Amino acid sequence: MNLPGIFITIEGVEGAGKSTAIAGVAEWFGAHGREVDCTREPGGTPIAEAIRQLLLNPVEEDLVPLTELMLMFAARAQHVAGRIKPGLAAGKVVISDRFTDSSRAYQGAGRGLDRSLIETLAQAAEQGVSPDLTLLLDLPVDIGMKRAAARRGACAHDRFERERHDFFERVRAGFLELARQSSRFALIDAAAPIVDVQTQIQTVLAARFPQGGVNCG
Ligand code: TYD
Repeated sequence: MNLPGIFITIEGVEGAGKSTAIAGVAEWFGAHGREVDCTREPGGTPIAEAIRQLLLNPVEEDLVPLTELMLMFAARAQHVAGRIKPGLAAGKVVISDRFTDSSRAYQGAGRGLDRSLIETLAQAAEQGVSPDLTLLLDLPVDIGMKRAAARRGACAHDRFERERHDFFERVRAGFLELARQSSRFALIDAAAPIVDVQTQIQTVLAARFPQGGVNCG
């Protein structure tokens, strides 16, 4: 779909440093005079944020994997229609903390749900919008889990943070496989010190969006 904005997604396992990366991407485009909208999944609109609560907050009843998958895509359909598409139509740089690749990695590789079902739901929910660039922040699961635990402190684990090491290994491998398959991805070594991570990201942005992508539309 040919909209004047730029759509960037940030992906990775827990503790990869996505928030810092997003702030760096937003600052880079801002310095090039672009209007930026930072958003997240699941979430990004009031209804999608309400669905997020269902997805992340542990309750007594188990959320079965198929329900989890469909709620992710229900939230995504709302997010695309209510925020991502309007932002891109207005010429903004929309930066999303996670998007469909998280469903491929977490629900597909992690939970083992059917890949063709995921692609069918993706086609419907994305409504013709696809990322111009996906930054995959990759790091060993152990390091990510330690960082996430330090960040969380005494706060309770959400439903995903309760998963075991082998689940996150499958998720990481799923992301890496996606990155191998498509030039839409840029692989970032997120185990490096923060300044190096920001330099890697800025190098990718400068190569893919000369002058902040003012002529991309
Ligand atoms: P969040 O608190 O945003 O975690 P993180 O800081 O790691 O991004 O919670 C989002 C969780 O939802 C995260 O564990 C990944 C998961 N998720 C999926 O499983 N599938 C998806 O499609 C999306 C968007 C997120």
